[in-house]
Amino acid sequence: MDASILIFDTPEEAAAACGDRTLEILERARRERARATLAVSGGSTPRLMFEAMSSRSFDWQGIEIFQVDERCVPPDHDLSNFRMIRESLLIAAGIDERHFHRVRGELAPEEAARIYVDDIRQSFGLNHGELPVFDVIQRGMGPDGHTASLFPGEPLTGDRTGIAAAVYVAKMMQHRVTLLPGVLERARNTLCLATGKEKAEALLKVLDGPRDPWNLPSQFASTDTVWYIDKAASVLR
Ligand code: 6PG
Repeated sequence: MDASILIFDTPEEAAAACGDRTLEILERARRERARATLAVSGGSTPRLMFEAMSSRSFDWQGIEIFQVDERCVPPDHDLSNFRMIRESLLIAAGIDERHFHRVRGELAPEEAARIYVDDIRQSFGLNHGELPVFDVIQRGMGPDGHTASLFPGEPLTGDRTGIAAAVYVAKMMQHRVTLLPGVLERARNTLCLATGKEKAEALLKVLDGPRDPWNLPSQFASTDTVWYIDKAASVLR
């Protein structure tokens, strides 16, 4: 895989560097196009990054923030990615939530996906069939090599025409809504943040193994993809 790989001593350093790069790209994009678009992941890893971003003095005016994926749970649920993002970024950085495009996890999955796709189309001014081009998509990686909510063997891993869809993650018994590969591959910048020894095995396969996005969806990349990892996650490389 020909992505750039930056290795840091600690998860905190990797998260802060990924967050700082995110802000740099957003600042530049806003200067060029008066607005910038960011899609952020959930799970646990990004919390450190969001906390670092919130500690920087950054003007969020003109920045539209979207979700890479969401669990189909209410926004105040412990498993809600929105809840974690709201606590560690939106509230902490004083971001106006009108500029956050939330997946309505409290709705039925297919309805939540339909509404989210309409929201993205409207925000990007897309005609039917067009895909959004995000300035930054920040992604994580699971120990099984999944990214977003595209898990190994997920049929939609082959979908390069859709914007987002509802998926069922059997091993977690969770319905989710996720951006689809066609959108992930079009991002102007993709920043992947993966830390901790539990990611080491998957990272070795994703970064150094043969191309196999069906089984390793974290191999989806856009032209400018940078991995931010810590030494623990890089231990097998
Ligand atoms: C989610 C995320 C998911 C995440 C990976 C890594 O909803 O869980 O969007 O794709 O990035 O599962 O999760 P951790 O950061 O918790 O290891």
